[in-house]
Amino acid sequence: MANRLDGKIAVVTGAGSGIGQGAAIALAGAGAKVLCVDLNESAANATASSCGGAASALDLAADDAGDAIVAAAHAAFGPVDILVQSAGVAVQKSFLNTTAADYDFCYSVNQRGLALATRATAADMIASGAAKRGGGRIINIASVSGRRGSVDRAAYGSTKAAVINLTQVMATELGPLGITANCVSPGPVNTAMVEAAHTAASRAAWNDAVPMGRYGSVDEIVAAILFLASPAASYINGLCMDVDGGYAGAGLQYAGE
Ligand SMILES: NC(=O)c1ccc[n+]([C@@H]2O[C@H](COP(=O)([O-])OP(=O)(O)OC[C@H]3O[C@@H](n4cnc5c(N)ncnc54)[C@H](O)[C@@H]3O)[C@@H](O)[C@H]2O)c1
Repeated sequence: MANRLDGKIAVVTGAGSGIGQGAAIALAGAGAKVLCVDLNESAANATASSCGGAASALDLAADDAGDAIVAAAHAAFGPVDILVQSAGVAVQKSFLNTTAADYDFCYSVNQRGLALATRATAADMIASGAAKRGGGRIINIASVSGRRGSVDRAAYGSTKAAVINLTQVMATELGPLGITANCVSPGPVNTAMVEAAHTAASRAAWNDAVPMGRYGSVDEIVAAILFLASPAASYINGLCMDVDGGYAGAGLQYAGE
């Protein structure tokens, strides 16, 4: 029972697809009431129906997205205990070809959008006394592309590196107020984002670079999110949890003696 989330109210951004969809369903399975947030209204509604939650269609890049998330959570369930930020966008271009628009696009959702929506939600957690309900939880989805400098990830990777640092800032400032902030850094996972971006050549390169020699599954990423949201993770704050088959920690790889 230590990891049950009965009575908790959770918000998941990017809940319409991939990792966010899996997280919303898993949090609901553990007993939380889940608000499914996504730019894609029909996808948000579909996830909400499958997990008995509520849906809110909004653009995380909008200045008022955070206030809209808090208002939707209150209208559906009440004050927020858990926030999972999985909404994200990617541009796959070389550094020399990455444009101002590419940087603005990735930054507006992955860094600025995440930061502003978390600010509004954390303020709601503080005002509603989440600390007395067992503590507020913020779980940001970073990426191995924010941990290491990979080819064609100038805009995407640098925003994900910012997510890792921003999570540490949140942990430091919000920890004293009873809110923990951690991030999960996934390796390659077969989702809509990856289906659109990875080629046969880049898939082979990932499989070579990941010591476990394969892509992860949505369920393997969601397991880490669920743990960080659970009472068992009450003293974990500021962590970047790599869920990447060993990629971020790997050095030279060959068959050996
Ligand atoms: N799939 C991977 O291999 C992988 C690896 C590392 C990190 N990540 C990160 O995990 C997170 C989830 O990725 P995924 O693979 O599940 O992607 P996905 O494309 O399957 O899902 C992302 C969801 O975010 C939503 N979204 C995009 N922009 C939005 C906006 N402006 N406002 C609201 N919602 C918006 C999309 O509609 C979509 O439903 C992302 O932050 C991504 O960067 C993914």
